[in-house]
Amino acid sequence: MPEKIPQILPPHPLRPDYDRSLAPGDIRDDFQKRLEPQNFNVAYLSRLAARMSEALKHSPDDPSLRYQLAFVTMQNAPTTSGLALADELLAGIRRRSGTDAAAVARLRQLLDGMLSRASSARPSDYTVQRVNWSINNRCPMACRGCYNPFVDDQITLGQATMIVDKLARHGTTDLVIAGGDPLLWEPIFDTVDYAIGTGLQVALDTTGYTLTHEKLERLTRLSTLRLPMDGSTHEVQRAFRRSADRDLTSRFKKSLQMCDDVGFRRVRVHTVASRQNVNDLEAIAEIIFGYESVQQWVVFQWWGRRASRALSDEMTVAAEEIESRMARIRAAHPDKEVIFAEATDREFLNFMIQSNGQVVTFAAGLAEEFIVGNLLHDEMGEIIAHPILDFAAMRRGVPVALQEAGAS
Ligand SMILES: C[S@@+](CC[C@H](N)C(=O)[O-])C[C@H]1O[C@@H](n2cnc3c(N)ncnc32)[C@H](O)[C@@H]1O
Ligand code: SF4
Repeated sequence: MPEKIPQILPPHPLRPDYDRSLAPGDIRDDFQKRLEPQNFNVAYLSRLAARMSEALKHSPDDPSLRYQLAFVTMQNAPTTSGLALADELLAGIRRRSGTDAAAVARLRQLLDGMLSRASSARPSDYTVQRVNWSINNRCPMACRGCYNPFVDDQITLGQATMIVDKLARHGTTDLVIAGGDPLLWEPIFDTVDYAIGTGLQVALDTTGYTLTHEKLERLTRLSTLRLPMDGSTHEVQRAFRRSADRDLTSRFKKSLQMCDDVGFRRVRVHTVASRQNVNDLEAIAEIIFGYESVQQWVVFQWWGRRASRALSDEMTVAAEEIESRMARIRAAHPDKEVIFAEATDREFLNFMIQSNGQVVTFAAGLAEEFIVGNLLHDEMGEIIAHPILDFAAMRRGVPVALQEAGAS
């Protein structure tokens, strides 16, 4: 009997922090739910902003309403007039204290960056070299604090190739396709072939959960295949990777073995470093570097951009704690590329397409996600003009290619 692979839209990680006392339909309830997969889109945010503006006419000094409307406006593909409105809203907040004051100050800081980019001359010929694409919205797992911005809608193969054409015409060089799990989306092989055919370097970021020799044979032209390993044992793995599978670690090892078997050498292993596995990093290194196919290891600091406060307390680990382990690992494996990606360094680094064609970018803090367009109807040139995008940040990042410049 063929194995039944779970294909889920993982539960939204911010739910534990919802204020349950708010009535459904209350503006503040709709605000706290705005990152839910069915909500994070221009239509929902525009309706919410219109209701907030109406409410502000009756309570123009309400600090929460001003803050929330400024936030929603900034997230909803704002033009310069949207940024000016956010500016006015934040400037008019008088009564604030404690954590509220910190939240307003943080939003102010983000807005100042956007206003400065909006007012400075920007190169009209800027090219987004690296694009990340969360191409499908289904996953076999529900990892703890997964920051992937899942949305409800799913593009078709025809829409995917249309987007690829736009990227190729624009001059993008590197496409990193992820999910969810891209291997659960049937047209993935045709999409990869099509994208490679246009001249793009294509990398695939998968759990490897459904990888087979046959599938791997169809993926040999990838620039890299990225596979996860977050613990040397099932127990450590489970601290981040959640699935019903009792033997995930063996599964992940099997994927690496398959790459060795077919002689595919461009494998990059991803590890999410949290408080739960920081003491296991050296054991993980010993396992993965036992496979010839593994050329590069990237350790991402667990990033609570989409996590409840309790989970952040449990998972967050300081960059220095990870770095000290990495230094020892680099010394033990001088022939391997070992890279550490610190969470705060990744602010505004992403140009990410979601599974509905929407393009988003992220700042470092909680719920700081921003829509900049949708490639189903916008051209790259229109999206690139967006003042939220930070070209300097987008040039940074982990090299996409093995031992080469670029970014992921
Ligand atoms: C969103 S996943 C997509 C690919 C695939 N589903 C996977 O998990 O391997 C891309 C990468 O982001 C990592 N990731 C997810 N949530 C994270 C978080 N909160 N902090 C740091 N990395 C995270 C995953 O481990 C994976 O390496
Ligand atoms: S980290 Fe990857 S495997 Fe885990 S829930 Fe998120 S998208 Fe799925």
